[in-house]
Amino acid sequence: MSNAIILNFKTYEEATGDNALKLAKICDEVAGKTGANIIVVPQVSDIYRISNAIKIPVYAQHIDNIKYGSNTGHVLAESVKSSGAKGSLINHSENRLKLADIEVNVRKLKELKMTSIICTNNVNTTKSVAVLNPDFVAIEPPELIGSGISVSQAQPEIISGSVDVVRKINPEVKVLCGAGITTGEDVKKAIELGTCGVLLASGVIKAKDPRAVLMDLINGLE
Ligand code: G3P
Repeated sequence: MSNAIILNFKTYEEATGDNALKLAKICDEVAGKTGANIIVVPQVSDIYRISNAIKIPVYAQHIDNIKYGSNTGHVLAESVKSSGAKGSLINHSENRLKLADIEVNVRKLKELKMTSIICTNNVNTTKSVAVLNPDFVAIEPPELIGSGISVSQAQPEIISGSVDVVRKINPEVKVLCGAGITTGEDVKKAIELGTCGVLLASGVIKAKDPRAVLMDLINGLE
């Protein structure tokens, strides 16, 4: 897979319901025009509508460690898959899970032929989840999330440290980084540090012109 820009819609108003569809269509159009690998991660309730309207991959923000049955209010992996999701984040810092649940979720996504991205907060947690064999680990220091201060510029050592431990433990696993990414320069730096792309939200979602920000971010992928 080529280096990626993964846009987490979180629960921002600008990325909910009709706004989510509009933003996903912008991402789709930019990806179509530039050939860039862009993945959108809307709320569960928006996955079906968005995945039917665009060509680029749609991932879920979260799944729970549950099976079919009596689990009111939980998110079932099979359900997000049937809505059109091709992968899921696991253990985002805004929705942390126990290690045992992370492990089951990675296995479940593999069984369903979906992509798994485990989010981590530092080099040690990256190390401890690399053995679980996810497709990606995304390192995101929580204190920089939504700050506009890029992890790749402010804490490059946390990214290179994560890349190093993952290479030693399980070189199959690809590393992403996120938190405060807003410019093509931030993306460029992330790639130079050994990642396969970025996971971001506010830099695009809160922007006056999300299309222009996406175009700038893409410049950093090359
Ligand atoms: O999942 C992406 C994320 O937590 C980073 O958020 O707003 O700093 O790009 P943001």
